Amino acid sequence: MNAPTANAPILFFDSGLGGLTVLGPTRALLPTAPIVYAADYAGLPYGQKSEAELAARVPALLGRLVERYQPRLAVIACNTASTIALAHVRAALDLPIVGTVPAIKPAAELTKTGVIGVLGTEATVRQPYVDDLGARFAHDKIVVRHGSPGLVTGAEAKLRGKAVDPDVIARAIAGLRDQPGGDKLDVIVLACTHFPLLHDELQAAAGADVRLIDGAAGIARRIAHLTEGQSWPACAVPGIAVFTRSDDRPPPPLAALAPYGIGSIETI
Ligand code: DGL
Repeated sequence: MNAPTANAPILFFDSGLGGLTVLGPTRALLPTAPIVYAADYAGLPYGQKSEAELAARVPALLGRLVERYQPRLAVIACNTASTIALAHVRAALDLPIVGTVPAIKPAAELTKTGVIGVLGTEATVRQPYVDDLGARFAHDKIVVRHGSPGLVTGAEAKLRGKAVDPDVIARAIAGLRDQPGGDKLDVIVLACTHFPLLHDELQAAAGADVRLIDGAAGIARRIAHLTEGQSWPACAVPGIAVFTRSDDRPPPPLAALAPYGIGSIETI
């Protein structure tokens, strides 16, 4: 592949606004990187979809986006899409693809009690990919998992300035704690990119002695490493957010995206 031009963007992809939690730390490391942020609102929530549906949908949509925006690298800023479709996307597309997978390895290094909670979508927490991460990095720990679609809805609402239902937060934490061994957990992996948007609410419900972790900073470092030595614009250019068209869910106001360097919104 030829060296990318300075204007070639980094493409971030999620079902919704969760991927902004990966975009944030990436912009901190690469402040002038041109950005395209793509959200599949027509497909949200991914956590309620089948493996077969996502394994077909995600590579097809990313293929369209790559053709349209010609990115230098694509980030699947979604645990659900990554744990199900990363291999399919890599097989289908000829550019570097960075995925997002649950931060079980760092959680296993952090826990003192030996009990880790994994909070994700229902689809993510049932993936063999997650079994595998547990077996490789946390075989001597107890790993309790819980899927919470309500947190995805809550995070989307919060970015639109709406209140988050405290019961949804409480139920998500109880879903981990009420499992055998769950009362001793001291680390919770936020295994959905939407969930760090609710960090403060989840921290308050889990208590100060529980660490919440996610993989965003590590992904940002990986993106910086993979693009090291490439050219970038001299100063920051406004990013583009692109949403797949959904009758039920219009794109959010630009003001919600502006803090992430987004300057315009498109629908496809
Ligand atoms: N943000 C996505 C993730 O990281 C999923 C949200 C959804 O569409 O259910 O898993």
